[in-house]
Amino acid sequence: MHILFIGDIFGRGGRTIVKERLAKLVKSYGVDLVIANGENAAAGFGITPPLAEELFELGIDVITTGNHIWDKREIVDYFEMANGNSHSMARRLLRPANYPEGLAGWGFYEGTKRSLPYAVINLQGRVFMAANDDPFRVADALLDKIKAKVVLVDIHAEATSEKISMGWYLDGRVTAVVGTHTHVPTADERVLPKGTAYITDVGMTGPYDSVIGVNKEQIIGRFLNNMPVRFEPATGDVRLSAVVIDCDETTGRARKIERVMIT
Ligand SMILES: [Fe+2]
Ligand SMILES: [Fe+2]
Repeated sequence: MHILFIGDIFGRGGRTIVKERLAKLVKSYGVDLVIANGENAAAGFGITPPLAEELFELGIDVITTGNHIWDKREIVDYFEMANGNSHSMARRLLRPANYPEGLAGWGFYEGTKRSLPYAVINLQGRVFMAANDDPFRVADALLDKIKAKVVLVDIHAEATSEKISMGWYLDGRVTAVVGTHTHVPTADERVLPKGTAYITDVGMTGPYDSVIGVNKEQIIGRFLNNMPVRFEPATGDVRLSAVVIDCDETTGRARKIERVMIT
């Protein structure tokens, strides 16, 4: 089974390159399952229901997110729409599982693609981020109830140490642990000894003539002056950052992880 995971889709540029390139990527890598982080799809800040559905229509099976998930308030109503329909688009949009108990939305999804069972878990780190529940123990609890052998975990976190720790912690228990959030791809992709594919950050799908997606003059100005500024998405040098994971669908063990960056 081949899984394509696309890193943080940022703004119109990110959405457009996915629209233009996804079909060809799926064909050339023989991809069975497509997962993408969409927390920045709406001009960098969150995702709206229509934008989520636009991404699903392109062939993305599950959308993970992160700290920006609550930026667009209508997403809460969208999550509520999924109640009672366990495979609807609204149900396949995830938010980190370790946000406080009782919040709208789900942090994991279990389904089948081409009759192959799979699961996706979305977690958020706690180092330099909100003080959510412990993502390690939340992962344990979710893995206790998930039946699928093929399990992909998006660890949306700032600190490399926290992400690498999660990779080792889940080695042999999930198919892949892929990092998101920093928008900077790392060159450390590998299959860990017990069969879990790992990368610290997949990188952003969006404008690289920017500071992590935002107009660079605005961010430089923020560093120079410490004044609040409105962040606008940049437009130049749009790239798609992803990984392709090849795994054995019967055991869930990864065979290979390959980094992909296309312009
Ligand atoms: Fe992001
Ligand atoms: Fe983030």
